[in-house]
Amino acid sequence: MLDNDFNDIIKQKFSGEVFDTVSRVADEMNLECYAIGGYVRDIFLHRPSKDIDIVTVGKGIELAEAIKKALGKKAKLSVFKNFGTAQIKYKDTEIEFVGARKESYERNSRKPIVEDGTLEDDQNRRDFTINALAICLNRDRFGELLDPFGGLRDMENLIIRTPLDPDITFSDDPLRMLRAIRFSSQLGFDIEPDTFDAITRNKDRIEIISKERVIDELNKIILSPKPSVGLLQLDQTGLLSIIFPELVALKGAETKEGVGHKDNFYHTLVVLDNISKKTSNLWLRWAAILHDIAKPATKRWDKKLGWTFHNHNFIGGKMIPGIFRRLKLPLNEKMKYVQRMVTLHMRPQVLVDEDISDSAVRRLLFEAGDEVDDLMTLCEADITSKNPDKVRRYLRNFEIVRQKLKDIEEKDHVRNFQPPIMGQEIMEIFGLAPSAEVGRLKSSIKDAILDGVIPNEYDAAYKYLIEKAKKIGLTPVNNLNNK
Ligand code: CTP
Repeated sequence: MLDNDFNDIIKQKFSGEVFDTVSRVADEMNLECYAIGGYVRDIFLHRPSKDIDIVTVGKGIELAEAIKKALGKKAKLSVFKNFGTAQIKYKDTEIEFVGARKESYERNSRKPIVEDGTLEDDQNRRDFTINALAICLNRDRFGELLDPFGGLRDMENLIIRTPLDPDITFSDDPLRMLRAIRFSSQLGFDIEPDTFDAITRNKDRIEIISKERVIDELNKIILSPKPSVGLLQLDQTGLLSIIFPELVALKGAETKEGVGHKDNFYHTLVVLDNISKKTSNLWLRWAAILHDIAKPATKRWDKKLGWTFHNHNFIGGKMIPGIFRRLKLPLNEKMKYVQRMVTLHMRPQVLVDEDISDSAVRRLLFEAGDEVDDLMTLCEADITSKNPDKVRRYLRNFEIVRQKLKDIEEKDHVRNFQPPIMGQEIMEIFGLAPSAEVGRLKSSIKDAILDGVIPNEYDAAYKYLIEKAKKIGLTPVNNLNNK
């Protein structure tokens, strides 16, 4: 970066009321004061950055209190005495304040022993050289860059490297091993070989990190532009076996009597990269990761058929809650969505057949509802053949399936349909208590509509219900069909 450009950018990024106030108050208090960490890094990476970390040599909390006072009522101050930090929220900016620290950690916890230190001490204890850059905010040195570890050079060479011996940096805070891989995957940077080897050596220390923090980093890797970059590094360092062994279990391509099957680990990574070109929906990306998760559990050798993975979609769907629970992923509708995607991912393939009935198409529309487009995106991403002719043919087939789904939905509107007669009404019509019989009658109406036996209308459903009930000896005690 040219010096002039640099100065212009610094001026622009550190201008405005907040920085003017920080600068003035720090000078008045005679405190050295620096912007540091992600905010500074992102300026050089031309990434938008919002949250600002400020480190001061001594008295971080007192500086924050004085700045709050100067900014007035609109500024909200929170002090975290235990951590020696303070935060100011002002308009849409968040600023964290901390006094420069010298830190060392106890071996089996992340609880640091903290002492006051110089700026250099504070930079030493940061995770990566690119995150250790500091910019001075005091008036007479305003904009001066302090880069003791060559963070700028590493940024130019696209390198992730720890400022200290990586064994120390990772041992201090093992989450940083995941952060290294996450930054590499997000930014397209390489991890410097010594740093990478130290991750492999220290991988078991990840066990002391909470599941919540681990999944946070894993999700960031999954949301990166090409997630396979991060997942392959997780695998190579051995971290993946610790945090997500089910994914590693997909590895391997066995051959029997000259018949092989694909390696489902690498296949899954290609599917994930494919889908990541189409969507930034984290849960659809998770569906791609998990779509074949039950292949190891369902793998069989059949003399006639070769390798089979029968019902891997259903078994996979059943595995999702256990995996989500262990990884501390949400157990709400997000999980159910992933479960539906995994369970249904083989269905569009069946609809490719030219002679497929409308009812099969209606059933998929009914089961996938609003998510049918996502399901098609997953199926398209699942095409990982290296033969371009095959890829073109499969994609064309799915194009036809998409058209069929569209045509039938326009005609029959079954995508989000609710059967026109619900259980409560069936109970009232026949004077029945809640029972399996009511459920069966309700499903028979739904099936008749999906199979095209009757239209999706109240009168037709009512007539059908009366006939169906008659066959099992039920007659209406209330006629509700006079609406
Ligand atoms: N940091 C660290 N070790 C960690 C976490 C953070 O040394 N385990 C330091 C780094 O200097 C980092 C800064 O604290 O730049 C702020 O951390 P954080 O806000 O978590 O991350 P960012 O680097 O800002 O990046 P992102 O917002 O993408 O997480």
